[in-house]
Amino acid sequence: MILFEWLTAENVDAALPDLAALLIDAVESGASIGYMMPYDPADIDAYWHSVAAAVKSGNKWLLVARLGNGSLVGTAQIEPAGKANGRHRAEVQKVIVTSRLRKHGIGTKLMTEVDVYARAKQRTLLLLDTRANDAGERLYTACGWTCFGVVPAYAFSPDGSIEGTAFYYKHLM
Ligand SMILES: CC(C)(COP(=O)(O)OP(=O)(O)OC[C@H]1O[C@@H](n2cnc3c(N)ncnc32)[C@H](O)[C@@H]1OP(=O)(O)O)[C@@H](O)C(=O)NCCC(=O)NCCS
Repeated sequence: MILFEWLTAENVDAALPDLAALLIDAVESGASIGYMMPYDPADIDAYWHSVAAAVKSGNKWLLVARLGNGSLVGTAQIEPAGKANGRHRAEVQKVIVTSRLRKHGIGTKLMTEVDVYARAKQRTLLLLDTRANDAGERLYTACGWTCFGVVPAYAFSPDGSIEGTAFYYKHLM
């Protein structure tokens, strides 16, 4: 059984070590998620502390997926647009499932939770980007997202190769 939880200002700090481990696992498994090999663990810790600060200030909504024993196996973030003319809009970031439990439907469930939460917060237009021709593209397409373009040679992968990035949107009805 997988439990989903939106972290709060009160409990986000306690999850940071597990979130750092999840991100490291993703980078080491080759995911294009902002870091390259060799990564500096201090950069990853600093990143999660910045996310925690954003959760506390209300500028990010942070979802985690846990097994029944409490171990953290997945995450996703929503960053609501700050501009007055984008108050219906948000960006989905850092969708990650632990490498040992991929292809069990956790990613799909994370995206369903994202939809439900975003809709409840009146964020009805979601955007994201992901490495072209990767598992993320299949996940988002299966979850009803629309690709509106691919920028070739957009980002480096952890192994140093440069890859295209696909940009997606989803209108929540
Ligand atoms: C992208 C990612 C989040 C997908 O997570 P996931 O938990 O594997 O996603 P799902 O299990 O819901 O779906 C993935 C695949 O498993 C399949 N699947 C789901 N449940 C399954 C089951 N019970 N049995 C067999 N296959 C299953 C899905 O059909 C899908 O197949 P496809 O890739 O051929 O389309 C994961 O690969 C990941 O963390 N990647 C690294 C980070 C990353 O790149 N994130 C995206 C950019 S931010």
